[in-house]
Amino acid sequence: MAKQTVLITGSNSGIGRATAELLAGRGYRVLATMRNLDKGRDLAEAAKKNGWDLTLLSLDVCNDDSVREAFRQAGEVDVLINNAGFEVWGPIEEMAVGDITDQFDTNVYGPLRCINAVLPAMRERGSGIIVNVSSVGGRVAAPLNGLYSASKFALEALSESLHYEVGHFGIRVHIVEPGGIETPFADNRRLVGAGAGDETSPYRPLIGQWEEATIKLQGEGPRTQPSAVADAILEAIEKGDKLRYPVGPDAQMVLAARKQMDDETFESAMRQQLGLTW
Ligand SMILES: NC(=O)c1ccc[n+]([C@@H]2O[C@H](COP(=O)([O-])OP(=O)(O)OC[C@H]3O[C@@H](n4cnc5c(N)ncnc54)[C@H](OP(=O)(O)O)[C@@H]3O)[C@@H](O)[C@H]2O)c1
Repeated sequence: MAKQTVLITGSNSGIGRATAELLAGRGYRVLATMRNLDKGRDLAEAAKKNGWDLTLLSLDVCNDDSVREAFRQAGEVDVLINNAGFEVWGPIEEMAVGDITDQFDTNVYGPLRCINAVLPAMRERGSGIIVNVSSVGGRVAAPLNGLYSASKFALEALSESLHYEVGHFGIRVHIVEPGGIETPFADNRRLVGAGAGDETSPYRPLIGQWEEATIKLQGEGPRTQPSAVADAILEAIEKGDKLRYPVGPDAQMVLAARKQMDDETFESAMRQQLGLTW
């Protein structure tokens, strides 16, 4: 069987990089895309050392021209992994419209630009796989991550609709939902208002409380590694019998609780578990 070509966005860091390495090691032809190719030097070196079929390509998911050019260079893509993303973090009241549009540009319009770039050819071929990296925040919103959660809820909805629309053409769509994963993601957040340390903000006490709650949510054990998300992505590609793949004990716990409880019971259970009095 011919090698499958996988294109991954945001491959220079965290989950994208772990996925590029795992899939290249498994014999896929990997197009590891990133907006700054200088950040891909280590990955290129690892590919050379290990004899992987891995090519770096420039792709900024927020830029139409960049997306067009990357997919022109890519040629036929069997598997698209929409991984690039970031978080705007802070109280909703303190967000500017620009924060909202930037959040959606990367986390929602970015994946859509890439999906639209691959769908016509996948449809004509009658095969293809699209994996969208969402988050447990794409199912359950929390204080201070309203914009991020809104963007991932949107990505979940688009993915679910797409799943119904394109399954008919032989194209699979999967959603991967990590909990807290040990990557530079938190360091790359855009912090706003109280989230950025504004001591005059009426939301300032919430920040401390929520930071403590997050530690409790993640538990005492070691944090989930990006390789666990890469494993889930591989399972989605190779097994592909589920629409959604939660990753990590915190994601499993929150999603299982949410499924069993109504809104009020869930809120009260989480408040109790996390010591949240705000
Ligand atoms: N880590 C977690 O706890 C966690 C939990 C749930 C979901 N996720 C999701 O997992 C995905 C990967 O995150 P991560 O944890 O691996 O974080 P990360 O290490 O910060 O990686 C994010 C990647 O996205 C790239 N990116 C951001 N904006 C981009 C753009 N406009 N065009 C192309 N690439 C862009 C970044 O590139 P630069 O280096 O150029 O910025 C980086 O390669 C994200 O969608 C995130 O929402 C993460």
